Amino acid sequence: MPTHSDAFANLRVFDHPLIQHKLSVVRDVRTPPADFRRLLNEIAGLMTYEVSRRFDTHAVEVQTPLERTTCRQLSRPVTLVPILRAGLSMTDGVMQLFPEARVGHIGIRRDEATHRPVFYYAKLPHDVREGYAIVIDPMLATGGSACAAIRYLKDAGCRDVQMICLVAAPAGVKRVHDEHPDVMVFTCALDRELDGNAYIRPGLGDAGDRVFGTVEA
Ligand code: PRP
Ligand code: URA
Repeated sequence: MPTHSDAFANLRVFDHPLIQHKLSVVRDVRTPPADFRRLLNEIAGLMTYEVSRRFDTHAVEVQTPLERTTCRQLSRPVTLVPILRAGLSMTDGVMQLFPEARVGHIGIRRDEATHRPVFYYAKLPHDVREGYAIVIDPMLATGGSACAAIRYLKDAGCRDVQMICLVAAPAGVKRVHDEHPDVMVFTCALDRELDGNAYIRPGLGDAGDRVFGTVEA
């Protein structure tokens, strides 16, 4: 069960020992892309169990080999929405628990000079408004990318949006709260601050570069 944050009403932090152990390896600069990707997916899967805790279910009749019984099934479809590129690195892990989920993609990159989000692509299921949307991105720094993605989803009609990230900065959590107070943010760590380049400290560096092996020498 993630803990409530004293600082932010919209934040839940996973302090589970297994998740924290995996996060320590992810943060380590020596961890190569293959292990980085595997760990992000493992953590995302573990988070998904709790992120979906409040999803609605309804009663269904099931015939077991012995008798009919009443069970419960999820009532509404789930759409996973990774923010390209780095969000892709956690999506398979979430899909392991939601194999029927649809995946919508939103392409946003941060301008290196201004740190403002630059929107370049989106493709969502036509009925995305029907169910739950889970925005996936390992890094919540200034919050510009997350807020732009959430705005796009809301403009498409989504009413139930949540976000999964690996590491969050206070500024990003605050911005999501200010602009989208209805959106719960699930993270594994609330880090200390942003530095002058709007990188999260201590953070884990540039997530997209570490996932895809594009770190500059
Ligand atoms: C990173 C990260 C987030 C964004 C967070 O993406 O994956 O999308 O920065 O920063 P923000 O909260 O200040 O907006 P980046 O722009 O590096 O693109 P990439 O995933 O393609 O590498
Ligand atoms: N994007 C990243 O990948 N890392 C940060 O620390 C901030 C933004």
